[in-house]
Amino acid sequence: MQKSDILKNLQEIAGNERVSASSAELYCYSCDASQVRGMPDFIVRPVSTEQVSKIVRLANEEEIPVTSRGAGTGMAGGAVPLEGGIVLDMSSMNRILEMDLGNLQVTIEPGIIQEKLNEALEPYGFFFPPDPGSSAMCTLGGLIANNGSGMRSVKYGTTKTYVLGLEVVMADGTVVNTGSKVTKSVAGYSLNDLFIGSEGTLGVITKATLKVRALPKERSVLLASFDDPEHAGQAVVKVLSSGLIPSACEILDRNIIEAINTYDPNIGLPKAGAILMFEVDGTENSVREGIEMIRGICSSLATSIRAASDKKERDEIWAARRLVGAAVSRLDPLRTRVYLGEDIGVPIKELPGMLHKIREISEEFDLPIMTYGHIGDGNLHTGMCIDMLDDKQWDKLSKVADKIHRTAIGIGGTVTAEHGVGSARAEYLELELGNALDVMILIKKALDPKGILNPGKMGV
Ligand code: LAC
Ligand code: ZN
Repeated sequence: MQKSDILKNLQEIAGNERVSASSAELYCYSCDASQVRGMPDFIVRPVSTEQVSKIVRLANEEEIPVTSRGAGTGMAGGAVPLEGGIVLDMSSMNRILEMDLGNLQVTIEPGIIQEKLNEALEPYGFFFPPDPGSSAMCTLGGLIANNGSGMRSVKYGTTKTYVLGLEVVMADGTVVNTGSKVTKSVAGYSLNDLFIGSEGTLGVITKATLKVRALPKERSVLLASFDDPEHAGQAVVKVLSSGLIPSACEILDRNIIEAINTYDPNIGLPKAGAILMFEVDGTENSVREGIEMIRGICSSLATSIRAASDKKERDEIWAARRLVGAAVSRLDPLRTRVYLGEDIGVPIKELPGMLHKIREISEEFDLPIMTYGHIGDGNLHTGMCIDMLDDKQWDKLSKVADKIHRTAIGIGGTVTAEHGVGSARAEYLELELGNALDVMILIKKALDPKGILNPGKMGV
């Protein structure tokens, strides 16, 4: 089929106003929050599963790549159409279809923003816990496709903990339903788990039934400052081994603290080699006990400890944490934050060693690394900024990212704990997964024999 005929077909399926091939719009869909770029040929904004199914069927017949996309907040190129073709912008499918709160679940379309779901749940006393830094922007479809997590997974688990069932459009346009409304079922393979985190390479998620949780009655935050990030790492290992499960456990290193304080001097985070932010939630008594337990555990390693005195201070501390991305990007107008090597995960007891290694790598290559992240999950974000027009700096940054990735894998870790593989990290999958990657490739071939779904991603 000629390009003009494909355009006509897409317009017939979705309506003229929901299809575009104008270069300005194509350009807008050629990137996400990473440095990966790829120009699509068509943008379609479907409003129903039926439309998605027809579009994917057409794409399969014509062997046109289809890349589904939520809000484009991904940091690994997952939503970038590397081989052109159709970008399915799922953000118009953004309804809450059912609030079945008696069964502690909701059914949603994939384009709804994470925070919007929580706004709708709050008056009923419920919430959806996975809470990435981008929760004000990212879609739930994107979270499911990447098994996103963020600040609360140390206690509440990642997105997959909450997925009961999915509606998925397969590569040939067939619509399947995985899972169900029950919280336990062993009927068949766990197909939910196959599609969660598959980054649009196995199917297009068009609906999801998600578990929700009752909002905790009380939450409190404690900040512990350390001279040395390694001491912070040791404190985390001790806290997690104590039996207490904080609802968040974040690290900010010296450079990040400086970036936040420079971005907004009113925030006034304590100056230190690193800060740990612990949050404990539950009943009033359990929160008080939890905070005191953490204070006791950290006291021998920390230089100072401060608990938020009230809700206002707690919210300010969280707001500061959410500023990290913006603060790092604004630090130096001549340098740009590049998302490479920024999402490693290591086994908990390797944290102090990994923090030490990051410092060594930074010194070896003479490139400042700003470390923060969900240290309670062993997940560290390493922020690096370069002059994007300087090839030498690119070269240096690539070497640093490569060394960070290989170091993490070398100690039993992962190159991506939450941001996804996309194309940015695909080259490391063989090293990290061994022949499990061959199984992934077999699954991909079986479900998408023509390779139309998000080609060029995840090493498949
Ligand atoms: C965060 C994003 C970068 O934790 O994952 O802020
Ligand atoms: Zn994160």
